[in-house]
Amino acid sequence: MIYNFDKPIDRRISGAVKWVDLPEGIIPMNIADMEFRLMPEVIEEMKAVAEYGDFGYIGMTETDYQAVLNWIEKRRKVKVLREHIIATPGVLYAARIALSILTKPGDKVIVQTPLHTPSIATPCIMDRIKVENRLIYKDGNYYIDYDNLEDLFKNGAKVLMMCAPQNPTGRVWTYDELSKVGEIVNKYNGYIICDEIHSDIVWGDNVHVSPTQIPVIADRSIAVFSTSKTFNMGGFHVGTAIVPNADLRKKMVDAFYSIGHVCDRPAVMCLRAQTAAYTKGEKWLEEMLAYVDNNFDYTLKALANTPIKATHPEGTFLLWCDINELKWDAEKLRQVMFNDWKVLPDPGSYYDTKDWAVYEGPEHHIRLNLALPRPTLIEAMDRITKYFK
Ligand SMILES: Cc1ncc(COP(=O)(O)O)c(C=O)c1O
Repeated sequence: MIYNFDKPIDRRISGAVKWVDLPEGIIPMNIADMEFRLMPEVIEEMKAVAEYGDFGYIGMTETDYQAVLNWIEKRRKVKVLREHIIATPGVLYAARIALSILTKPGDKVIVQTPLHTPSIATPCIMDRIKVENRLIYKDGNYYIDYDNLEDLFKNGAKVLMMCAPQNPTGRVWTYDELSKVGEIVNKYNGYIICDEIHSDIVWGDNVHVSPTQIPVIADRSIAVFSTSKTFNMGGFHVGTAIVPNADLRKKMVDAFYSIGHVCDRPAVMCLRAQTAAYTKGEKWLEEMLAYVDNNFDYTLKALANTPIKATHPEGTFLLWCDINELKWDAEKLRQVMFNDWKVLPDPGSYYDTKDWAVYEGPEHHIRLNLALPRPTLIEAMDRITKYFK
């Protein structure tokens, strides 16, 4: 191993969101960033950019575009055309801009729950009507409800907001699954906005597929991704959209411009950091994946004799754990997390359409972020397993 993932980094002084208001002594396993230091190659690149000292109006060069395209070709084994990609200020930002060009206030927008909280919130924040296609939970795994999806489009929904790989369930949708979705969406002249922020974190034989690769729906799809999860660079606010349809691409670029963002001119430090990560970061990613995969093994073994049920996800560094057996309400879970475990996962209710602040149902899952140093993970698992003994 070249890189040392065992070494913790003090993130409280950085103002890391998961650490700032955390009481002393609690191990955070919530919020999907990593407890790993940024790879040295990107740090060196930023030092070089700072040393050079040109921070005027600077745009994406061919080298920057090719870095993204080569990365996709190498990792996903698919070729994306240069003219199909645009630079964005991040995934959520780009998904919301995509929604703004595909719908108008009052339109119905489908989200598939359980889902990453800000994605659930997106339609309502933008004065659209959120409609839910709940994933089918069967034998510990999640599947798309095609019949309900079709009904929702039949009843006027305009857009499906997808997440692939899916956060929090960890599903990596297959080509066949996405083709079936694509056929339904196409039949009703709908669109897909696909959040692919976790696309570089896939396990075993699973392969990330984007609807932008699937002929039946490519022209009606917009995919958004970034280095946020791949290289733990969520603080850079830079990313990429794949928009095969030229008309939609122009609308997206114009919509960004209307709020002051010029697509081919991301913040220069962030842009060069992204290019450095895509061109020099593969080894770091491989080692990080191997390390986190061992974290999954460790955690699954540790939880095996507890009422917390989980299996290795197909993608993401997040472990979605079934706690139905415990029949805890939100308050009970909160008390156990803070007072007994002193370990903080994300409660499953965060990923539901119910307003999490007033959620009153039993807590059905917790989500554990496993991208953290092994010694910290061992301590966290000790605390949780001791509680159940
Ligand atoms: C599915 C998903 N989309 C978007 C984001 C955040 O995107 P960004 O890095 O652009 O803020 C996250 C972060 O947890 C995520 O899990």
